[in-house]
Amino acid sequence: MKNKFYITTPIYYANAKPHIGHAYTSVAADILARWNNQQGKKTFLLMGTDEHGMKIQKKAEEKKKDPQQFVNEISEEFKGLCEKININYNGFIRTTDKKHEETVQKVLQLLYDRGFIYKGTYEGLYCVGCEQFKNESDLVDGKCPEHGIKPEKIKEESYLLKMKEVKSQILEKIKKQELEISPEKRRNEIISFLEKNELKDVSISRKNVSWGVPLPFDKKYTAYVWIDAFLNYLTGIGWNGSIEQFAFSELSEMKWWPPDIQLMGKDILRVHASIWLAILIYLDIELPKRIFAHGHILSNGKKMSKTLGNIIGVDEMIRRFGVDGTRYLLISAGTFGEDIDITMERMVEKYNSDLANGLGNLVSRTIKLASVSDFQFLISNKLPISDEKFSEKIENLRLSEALEYIWKVIREDNKYIEDNKPWELVKSDRKNFEKIMEKLAFDLFVISELLVPFMPETSKRIKKALENNESVILFKKAE
Ligand code: MSP
Repeated sequence: MKNKFYITTPIYYANAKPHIGHAYTSVAADILARWNNQQGKKTFLLMGTDEHGMKIQKKAEEKKKDPQQFVNEISEEFKGLCEKININYNGFIRTTDKKHEETVQKVLQLLYDRGFIYKGTYEGLYCVGCEQFKNESDLVDGKCPEHGIKPEKIKEESYLLKMKEVKSQILEKIKKQELEISPEKRRNEIISFLEKNELKDVSISRKNVSWGVPLPFDKKYTAYVWIDAFLNYLTGIGWNGSIEQFAFSELSEMKWWPPDIQLMGKDILRVHASIWLAILIYLDIELPKRIFAHGHILSNGKKMSKTLGNIIGVDEMIRRFGVDGTRYLLISAGTFGEDIDITMERMVEKYNSDLANGLGNLVSRTIKLASVSDFQFLISNKLPISDEKFSEKIENLRLSEALEYIWKVIREDNKYIEDNKPWELVKSDRKNFEKIMEKLAFDLFVISELLVPFMPETSKRIKKALENNESVILFKKAE
């Protein structure tokens, strides 16, 4: 299908409640989906929850809950997060959905029948936090740097997915930009990783993890959770495991395939750029067009994570800053692609300066000036707005720069009001007053239009206030 935009986020582990690290990926994906929608594309935003595996099995045991009941509850929390923060998703896939599980089994059988999976012995260091095998060189002081825990030594009879042979194909596709990995820095890291290391065959089975999809060709085992998880990107848009479904893709759900962007944190780029791509190549399915890896939200220098327990809650942010305030603060906190360190104090300060005093003040002053002077805002016919510089920033996922571009106008306009003192001109120089008001009103329409993907409700409120000449308090001061 032409003129479509399919975007995915990673599916979130259903092992604990969501935090703003998850909200970060989801808000960014939502912005990109809304932006493409605004450009006239048909969009599909997929998210979901990753519900199998050792980590979840252990957590459910700890909580003395049946794993299915446990993941049902957590999955609802993730859906709730999306709703709370105004994520307009089109599909929400759960890996415990029956259809998903059946497709995972079909795919495993297919890979086995085609000879890409074989039986062997696997030995390695396994980090349950990552649900991944680690190389010695990945560890810092013998511990996983992401989770601060010592990986377990595992040696077991296992089914393995061949990786060695497929490495050169993956590398070639990345180098030829058939699949774009960005930012550039991450692309280079992946290329150098693939060039320097041989890809070890991956164990795709688990013997002592009962909470998983049984291997269809050997029911004593369950599937490695990542294999199960990757397939969500296909099952989430209705794939049933049959390759024929792609044949008339224009007419089927597979019209969305391939993903235009797969968004993820940098911690999971490498598994995607190896195992996920290998699976697609083995299945003869087109690769995603682009993978973008963003940085992490840190809290006092450490990745915010459930395992480390240094979490700022989404509810708390929404309570203090509102939904759009939270979306703004997350995305404006730093370059998308780099790590960003956040603290509550800095967020309060930024909220007050950029939102309450910045945008909020500009809107309320402009409307107040209009209402005391009978000025009518008559510029909606100048829409839609298209601004190449702004578009280019979004297309390149420079999301904080796109916001900064809008906020430059907001700061300039606030200064313009102070410099020109329209409240004095309204009596002495009506012509000049109207000129000033027209510029302000036009800028506000542009601002509200550019804000659509980032702060959808605020955008609507500004437009409504302008249309009805109605004063509005967009953001109350935060403490
Ligand atoms: N279940 C796997 C993904 C499977 S996709 C086939 C997983 N889940 S996760 O819940 O641990 O992470 C999901 C996403 O949230 C990842 O992109 C991860 O980078 C992101 N974040 C989790 N904590 C984060 C921060 N503190 N900051 C920014 N993003 C972070 O990995």
